[in-house]
Amino acid sequence: MQVSDSAARVLSGLLEARTGQQLTADRMWRIGTALSGLLRDHGLASVDELALRLIEPDCGNLANAAVDALLNNETYFFRDRNMFDVLAQTVLPEIASQARRKRHLRIWSVGCSTGQEAISLAMLLSEQRGKWAGWSIEIVASDVSHHVIETARKGIYPQFQVQRGLSVLQMINHFEERPEGWQAEKALLRQIRYEVHNVLDPREDARAFDLVLCRNVLLYFGQENRARAFDRLADAMNPGGWLMLGGGESAAGLSDRLVADDAATGLYRKSDEAGSARDNVVPARRAG
Ligand SMILES: C[S@@+](CC[C@H](N)C(=O)[O-])C[C@H]1O[C@@H](n2cnc3c(N)ncnc32)[C@H](O)[C@@H]1O
Repeated sequence: MQVSDSAARVLSGLLEARTGQQLTADRMWRIGTALSGLLRDHGLASVDELALRLIEPDCGNLANAAVDALLNNETYFFRDRNMFDVLAQTVLPEIASQARRKRHLRIWSVGCSTGQEAISLAMLLSEQRGKWAGWSIEIVASDVSHHVIETARKGIYPQFQVQRGLSVLQMINHFEERPEGWQAEKALLRQIRYEVHNVLDPREDARAFDLVLCRNVLLYFGQENRARAFDRLADAMNPGGWLMLGGGESAAGLSDRLVADDAATGLYRKSDEAGSARDNVVPARRAG
């Protein structure tokens, strides 16, 4: 599909202003493919016609739909399973020992898309239920897209999605087959609070999270927005809290508040900031 330079500029400007993501030249090919359904639904003949509508002042809903269509929402259960092993074997046991006095665990899944990452975390914790007996657990899962959050809240997944990343036993133990799809167990969904939130915006609950997962979200952000996002994530983390990025993502050179942890590539801890008064600051990794 032909997309003129001016239409591409309107769309990439809109996407960056709303989400921080850049549509760099090598991703411009996405525009036509990503927007074809939206053009059809709105009776628009071309991306140029869409761009003209998007510069009108009352284009609110259409602009939301265009941003949604341009976002990449690819996700699946237990994506990069080795990272869930690192959580199970290293990160969660350390949090359990650090925070044993407060017995309150808070995790933030940033850019959660349709919720598979948050549900995987809830499943992991339920599989370690002995360790977390008596704890209050909250998983906040957020995404800039209203559309994916609406889907995530339902907790219903088509067959091909539950088959991506879950064992048959996990499917049977944690999902119920219904005519509309596979419904995630209520006990898992109760632990998750879904929110529409832009990672570039501050949260009200600063220093609240023991663990933050922000995987495959910041890949297409420019340097400045990526640094800003890391600052927001660090604001939200407890001193000593953990951050997990996606494969190939790094905070190197973009934040001096996040220190790489040698347990895995893409794993960081929030440095102990001067003046912090939390009781769960742990200066060093447990041996062994
Ligand atoms: C490729 S998906 C990754 C989903 C999941 N984290 C995973 O790794 O499987 C990226 C998600 O980040 C969301 N996203 C993009 N920009 C965002 C922003 N500024 N704030 C919050 N979420 C954002 C997208 O809507 C999309 O759902």
